[in-house]
Amino acid sequence: LRVVVLVSGSGSNLQVLIDAMQAGELPIEIVGVISNRDDAYAITRANDAAIPVAILSHVANGKRMGIQTFEKHASDQLKAWQPDLIVLAGFMRVLSAAFIDNAPAPMINLHPSLLPAYKGLDTHQRAIQAGERHHGCSIHVVTAELDAGTVLTQALLEVTQKDTTDGLQARVQKLEHQLLPWTVALLAKGVLSLNHDQTHNPQSTF
Ligand code: GRF
Repeated sequence: LRVVVLVSGSGSNLQVLIDAMQAGELPIEIVGVISNRDDAYAITRANDAAIPVAILSHVANGKRMGIQTFEKHASDQLKAWQPDLIVLAGFMRVLSAAFIDNAPAPMINLHPSLLPAYKGLDTHQRAIQAGERHHGCSIHVVTAELDAGTVLTQALLEVTQKDTTDGLQARVQKLEHQLLPWTVALLAKGVLSLNHDQTHNPQSTF
């Protein structure tokens, strides 16, 4: 399975995919990484693993790259890499419906909440404030509506009285690092399959 990973930050989730791939535990090839930030540590991780990186920086010469320009470059790059699967792992830019609909492969996103609860940002803080007993992370199909596509897999934990936002985030990240390679393995082995046409239809079920 040819995989492209989109990142914006530290890339710890990219790292677990690289590690599992290099250990021969995951039958995928990460054929490229796209970062929308030029300061993302994920770029170093990709370089260290000799994976090609396209840096499509948010801000160039002090000017913010418009979403259309970003998507034009990203879409050219994706066509060149010909992925079977696109993984958004800590990718923090919202993509347009046109980009998602025309993507050359199904796209999945890792989101730090038990969807459909807590779409969007600040999920850990909101879960604590609401007094949730459970929290966790989800991997879902990317559709035009933010964090609303079909949920494929989830991992959960119990929220304790002692949890702070940072502590909870760290605990959820440990779950993410298990959930992402596990889910990608299910897709790579065909246990889970995504019909690319269905990914364009938010009503679809698996
Ligand atoms: C993850 O916690 C993800 O859920 C959130 O951003 C973080 C990315 O971490 N959206 P990393 O870049 O993979 O280290």
